[in-house]
Amino acid sequence: MRTPLIAGNWKMHKTVAEARALAGAVVDGVAATATRDRSGCDVVICPSFTALAAVADVVRGTEARGGGAHVGAHVGAQDAFWGDAGAFTGAVAMPMVAELASHVIVGHSERRTLFGETDDDVNRKVHAAFAHDLVPIVCVGETAAARDEGRADAVVLGQLDAATAGIAPDEAERLVVAYEPVWAIGTGRACDAGEAARIAALVRARLAEAFGDPVGRSVRVLYGGSVNPGNIAAYLAAEDVDGALVGGASLDAASFLALVDAART
Ligand code: PGA
Repeated sequence: MRTPLIAGNWKMHKTVAEARALAGAVVDGVAATATRDRSGCDVVICPSFTALAAVADVVRGTEARGGGAHVGAHVGAQDAFWGDAGAFTGAVAMPMVAELASHVIVGHSERRTLFGETDDDVNRKVHAAFAHDLVPIVCVGETAAARDEGRADAVVLGQLDAATAGIAPDEAERLVVAYEPVWAIGTGRACDAGEAARIAALVRARLAEAFGDPVGRSVRVLYGGSVNPGNIAAYLAAEDVDGALVGGASLDAASFLALVDAART
């Protein structure tokens, strides 16, 4: 059984003070609504780098309040560079992230299109993440043009193959993959749930083929792109979709907690 995962990608939003307040509301909400008779849900909060330490403190604080019990919230970075250290002005390394976070988003389409990130960069980052014991949330997804040309599956699988090249099966097992069609991100035009489920199954089958059936069964595949409290249930209903990577709806505690609640059936 795969535990559902809801990840909030705050993108370039929230000052440190705002991030602390939102993270506090999220972890309080997660702790308050966790009940024994419901299945669990992993929650990952991904603030900007400047707020990473503050959010990590908030999450650690709730663990202390709960007598060390994990409340189910994790911290993730939105990106990190593949080099461990060196002359890379402006970049943040995986070991730096690993002090504060357990997850890292890699290959988000905004990184690919706005910052020129290549499949090779994504692969190096996946390797670097595993080397520092971080769980990479690898984003794959086609543009509207690629979909119109009938190349959606090829783009997704090509990005997946490139991202995971050379990783060991015991690493692959811990991977999280987010299917995020570029045309659905931040547009309010969410992907049809059946289509998202079809691509999630395709991703899972490819990973099983490359790394073995146990990996295919254990990798969590998320959907991302205009997810909101009104449409989340349709995605979660699919066998191969294990949760969501959420942008806009993660910026407000109530809507984000509604997503977490939907995942804890
Ligand atoms: P959105 O963003 O939920 O605002 O569409 C999703 C993402 O980019 O991860």
